[in-house]
Amino acid sequence: MLEVKEIYKTFNPGTVNEKHALNGVNLTMEDGDFITVIGGNGAGKSTLMNAIAGAWPIDEGTILIDGANVTHLPEHKRAAFIGRVFQDPMMGTAATMGIEENLALAKRRGKLRTLMPGIKKAERDEYRELLKTLGLGLEDRLTSKVGLLSGGQRQALTLLMATLIKPKLLLLDEHTAALDPKTAAKVLNATDRIVSKDHLTTLMITHNMRDAIAHGNRLIMMHDGRIILDIRGDEKQKLTVEDLMHEFEKISGEAFASDKALLG
Ligand SMILES: Nc1ncnc2c1ncn2[C@@H]1O[C@H](COP(=O)(O)OP(=O)(O)OP(=O)(O)O)[C@@H](O)[C@H]1O
Ligand SMILES: [Mg+2]
Repeated sequence: MLEVKEIYKTFNPGTVNEKHALNGVNLTMEDGDFITVIGGNGAGKSTLMNAIAGAWPIDEGTILIDGANVTHLPEHKRAAFIGRVFQDPMMGTAATMGIEENLALAKRRGKLRTLMPGIKKAERDEYRELLKTLGLGLEDRLTSKVGLLSGGQRQALTLLMATLIKPKLLLLDEHTAALDPKTAAKVLNATDRIVSKDHLTTLMITHNMRDAIAHGNRLIMMHDGRIILDIRGDEKQKLTVEDLMHEFEKISGEAFASDKALLG
């Protein structure tokens, strides 16, 4: 479903701020793979996601999604088949619009907005059922303005919107990091449910090693713009936080730079 071949990205080349953020990354994802991504601050995790989403041109390498070469496709064109949720609950939803209006917009993604028909009962029922599965009480607030929701409720809604039309790829960049632990767990549960129900190919960045171990079928660790660890299947099931810390120190030759990862 995703083939990232030998990609490189340097920010501010030739200046004092030059940063080799991606140093020859290779990653192949099979249909339905759910990969969790860990690594210290500045390891290149978000940059890899931005490269896949097409935020800017990469310097070298190739990116294929579902067999199609998207390397030179602009972000707005890739958005038609990529679902994304970021860390910030304020992004991804329209605050001044209602819950059902936000969902309706997501449902009509890629279609001409000027031809947007009104929301019919069947559609409203579908949204109510979807919202019910979140367990956040949103099913009774279809017309509430999204700006009135809590951060967790908004992230959960963003997740529904990102997956309402089945994306070829779901990209989650620390989408529960800004939430309190209880709400984060709810949103992670919803993530698991949606990913497995729709068999979504998913890349999820997290600072929480326990979450990285507990979710998905594969785990990768990044360091200095490279993937330094790729663990799957049974091996992943048996992983512990201590194993991961140990692997990181062995491969990188330094103690794990991220405090948040230690605390997680
Ligand atoms: N648009 C940009 N312009 C300049 N430098 C950037 C840009 N985006 C990322 N970088 C730099 O590239 C490096 C990798 O950043 P990236 O955001 O991918 O790290 P990360 O692994 O997501 O870290 P974190 O855990 O802190 O989110 C960092 O040094 C960062 O400062
Ligand atoms: Mg990041």
